[in-house]
Amino acid sequence: MAILIKNIKELIQVEEKPQPMVAGKAMSKLRTMKNAWLLIEGDRIKDFGEMTNCQLPITNCQLPIKEEATQNPEHETNNRERETGNAQRATPDPERLEVIDATGKMVFPSFCDSHTHLVYAGSREVEYIDKIKGLSYEEIARRGGGILNSARRLHDASEDELVEQALGRLNEIMMLGTGAVEIKSGYGLSVEDELKMLRVIRKLQKLTPVTIVPTFLGAHAVPSEFKGRQEDFVDLVISEMIPMVSAEELADYIDVFCDRGFFTVEETDRILNAGMKHGMRAKIHANELDFSGGIQVGVKYNALSVDHLEFTGDAEIERLLGTETMPTILPGAAFFLEMAYAPVRKMINAGLPVAMASDFNPGSSPSGNMQFILSMACIKYRMLPEEAIHAVTINSAYAMGLSSDFGSIARGKMANIYITKPIPTYSYMPYAYGSNKVETVILNGMVISPSI
Ligand code: NIG
Ligand code: FE
Repeated sequence: MAILIKNIKELIQVEEKPQPMVAGKAMSKLRTMKNAWLLIEGDRIKDFGEMTNCQLPITNCQLPIKEEATQNPEHETNNRERETGNAQRATPDPERLEVIDATGKMVFPSFCDSHTHLVYAGSREVEYIDKIKGLSYEEIARRGGGILNSARRLHDASEDELVEQALGRLNEIMMLGTGAVEIKSGYGLSVEDELKMLRVIRKLQKLTPVTIVPTFLGAHAVPSEFKGRQEDFVDLVISEMIPMVSAEELADYIDVFCDRGFFTVEETDRILNAGMKHGMRAKIHANELDFSGGIQVGVKYNALSVDHLEFTGDAEIERLLGTETMPTILPGAAFFLEMAYAPVRKMINAGLPVAMASDFNPGSSPSGNMQFILSMACIKYRMLPEEAIHAVTINSAYAMGLSSDFGSIARGKMANIYITKPIPTYSYMPYAYGSNKVETVILNGMVISPSI
């Protein structure tokens, strides 16, 4: 099956030579193609180009097999390959070709949401009211609310109930444009319940067209039965949880909530070390509540990402420069908890890349709407629309190890895209905050209907 999208007003985030991520000044440059077509074959992006190069009688679509000659010899070889070996693939059987006319509409790569906790039971609006009345996130946590509240609810829920609730959330974010999502455990806080959460995530992988990356977050909070014995809980994470998660191959990454009132740098160090030995690379919560040292310990273990970063100073920026660790900002949590915002402008100006994710969870960010995150990036962090788009696509794809297949419009990448409603410019996406600008979702090369 092939899909041709024609008359695209603007094709966004086009890459001739795919890059793993975009950093610093380069974040303000976005490659686009106006009046374009995009061809999807199977689950991949096959080709794209300008409408002026394409003759498209609908029943007999002739796509441009021949491209303009380039001076680059490497390119010439590619073109030759396309003209010979791949030529047949570039002209799909019209019988099996679905043509979508996108006049007035734009095509974006799907959002990549690299940090969520979207498997959880119930909701926590009671704490939301406590917050309105003046309690802080940490005060609520100290009273046994917060993560411990969600852990109790998760314990009482069956796997089927958790799957059903999470699927509802996944369907919602999918229709809002998210095509790949990381999901953490962390509301289990016992061997049995952490494994239950991760098995739920594994089931979800089979039930949704959204690509899911699982992360083990055993050290999210200290459960009440370990109060005053935090070291024993860390030992449990290291000696029992990690080996069992690894034996069942339930997680790709390991996370720790390294922050004031949660887990120390030393504890994080021990847990990440154990996780690495079991093949799980670090991707951690750091510097949300204080200058916790989380960024430094993350970089020490070559974390794929360090996330939150509200408390980031010159020393932290210096430590991140030149590393493979993606600084990831979670605007939803900073907004919902009314915290200080991470110094994103300073980070980008220093040459760092920045990714953004929703942090979808019941306590600090009960929304997975990446369109809203895109708006927040511009409104609250003063990012340019171009920078914000990079942060929620290619950079967040990098932050979950997916950027070779997701996060941009490039030949051979997964066909995970969305078509917008008619919009005047791509900057309208962050500008018109609060309304849904996504009209058609295509994941793995298939048009997704809202009823799934
Ligand atoms: O990323 N900071 C730690 N964990 C989550 C919140 C989890 C919760 O409150 O349920 C976060 O904000
Ligand atoms: Fe989080």
